[in-house]
Amino acid sequence: MDLSILNNISYGMYIITTKKEHKNVGCFINSAMQITSKSKILAISLNKDNYTNEVLKETRKCAISILNEKANQKLISKFGYFSSREINKFDEVNYQNISELPVVIEDCCGYIIGEVIRAIDVETHDIFLIRMEQMEKLSDDAPMTYRYYHEVLKGKSPKKAPTYQEEKEEGKANRYQCSICGYIYDDSKEKIKFEDLPDSWTCPMCGVGKDKFIKL
Ligand SMILES: Cc1cc2nc3c(=O)[nH]c(=O)nc-3n(C[C@H](O)[C@H](O)[C@H](O)COP(=O)(O)O)c2cc1C
Repeated sequence: MDLSILNNISYGMYIITTKKEHKNVGCFINSAMQITSKSKILAISLNKDNYTNEVLKETRKCAISILNEKANQKLISKFGYFSSREINKFDEVNYQNISELPVVIEDCCGYIIGEVIRAIDVETHDIFLIRMEQMEKLSDDAPMTYRYYHEVLKGKSPKKAPTYQEEKEEGKANRYQCSICGYIYDDSKEKIKFEDLPDSWTCPMCGVGKDKFIKL
């Protein structure tokens, strides 16, 4: 099977958020699509290990913020590579409390608020069907696509994303992978070899130190 054909399926870039008691929770997703028009239903896919999945099953209310192309890597890394179980992702992020939900406003061209009407078990993931109840456009900025994230920002997808694909070996130069976010530092493509980078160097994707990299 030529899995590269899957790279031709188009997606957007979104942050889904919800709130459990006083705790704000959320994660990055690319898998969201409108599936009906009159009844305004949106479908999203969430990995069963993601804390957002666990909490959304209880709260059944969420906001989906649509990222624009100006969105910075730190915002994507924070929501896409770390868990709300361990960190407060909303620190230093511009969000507003709307309809009792923490809605991310930063680098977003709009948001949708809705209620979960059904969760469907699909092996590693659950598909949530969400009835859209409220929405607002925040700017005319271009929404970020998944392709833009990969090709322009050189972003990766973690194992829990439904579109994750394993990296293929390239060349013989040394390559090092960030154990947190999966970013690959390839000596053959960089001006400085990984070993010569200063100790203060940090992962351009998720910001952790050199010590979190593993030689491939
Ligand atoms: C570009 C990108 C796309 C992603 N898409 C999805 C997705 O569609 N569904 C999903 O469950 N996780 C997706 N993820 C992974 C989650 O955002 C990630 O597992 C996150 O750490 C979960 O956080 P939580 O435990 O606070 O819910 C994506 C991550 C990135 C960086």
